[in-house]
Amino acid sequence: MAQQLAVVTGASSGIGRATAMQLATRGWRVIAVARRRERLEQLAAQAAAVGAGEVVVEPLDGADPEAVAAMAARVRERYGTPGAIVNSAGAGVWRWPEDTPPALMEQLLDSPFRTAYHVTYGFLGAMLAAGSGVILHVGSPASYVAWPSSTGYSISRWALRGLHESLLQDLHGTGVHSCHVMFAEVTSEYFETNPDSWEHAPWLGKLIPAITPGEAAEVIVRTLHRPRPLVLHPQLLRLQFGLFRVAPGVVRTLARATGRQRVS
Ligand SMILES: NC(=O)c1ccc[n+]([C@@H]2O[C@H](COP(=O)([O-])OP(=O)(O)OC[C@H]3O[C@@H](n4cnc5c(N)ncnc54)[C@H](OP(=O)(O)O)[C@@H]3O)[C@@H](O)[C@H]2O)c1
Repeated sequence: MAQQLAVVTGASSGIGRATAMQLATRGWRVIAVARRRERLEQLAAQAAAVGAGEVVVEPLDGADPEAVAAMAARVRERYGTPGAIVNSAGAGVWRWPEDTPPALMEQLLDSPFRTAYHVTYGFLGAMLAAGSGVILHVGSPASYVAWPSSTGYSISRWALRGLHESLLQDLHGTGVHSCHVMFAEVTSEYFETNPDSWEHAPWLGKLIPAITPGEAAEVIVRTLHRPRPLVLHPQLLRLQFGLFRVAPGVVRTLARATGRQRVS
């Protein structure tokens, strides 16, 4: 059987890194995408040291459509069509809307949204021609209920969810699947890289126990093998989501009441 090929963005840290490592350990060849080359090279060396599948490093900024297109062309030519794309690259500080000038908003849209879109676009034609594959997006509960003072962060996650929702419609019956996998807190470096975010997060979200990047990666790998449109983890997040489905206004109010308050 041909070696399975996955493209994992955000592979230099957190959920993306853990996913890349788990896939490599299971024998996949992994195209590891993120901006920090040295982090990706460490991952590749770690995978090689344990005899895992090859990790190919592709350091780039996912916001740059030309860099992503060149990477996708290289990968298709050298290794073929991926069976999986994991869109896990993401960043973003939390700000009130009046503190989010247009330049900052552009930056906040760069990842996860633009990076996921560029990478998906780079491989979608080939995946459709193959008639198989999974495109998995790592999302946040803020893509349903925006958290207070997280304007650009939330919008970029809503846009990612929008990409997933439109792929769900447009890929129907093609053999290519789109999956939106949402977690509550994951103990990655996210909150160090994006200072202030955790302090601003609503207590509503903090009631759900945190999971490790490794646990998140297990959920992602399971979903790649058994694709579903929406995966929520852990269990308590499913409960919160169930409440949102029947009473969205209640969840909005709770998020507002337990989140950051304006100082007048
Ligand atoms: N941690 C949580 O509690 C949590 C919960 C739910 C959802 N999420 C979402 O999951 C996603 C991943 O979070 P994480 O916890 O794994 O964070 P993380 O540890 O900070 O990792 C983020 C990854 O994204 C990459 N990245 C950011 N901007 C990029 C760009 N423009 N181009 C290419 N790569 C880029 C970073 O690599 P470089 O800096 O090397 O480029 C890094 O590898 C985020 O969208 C986050 O909102 C996180």
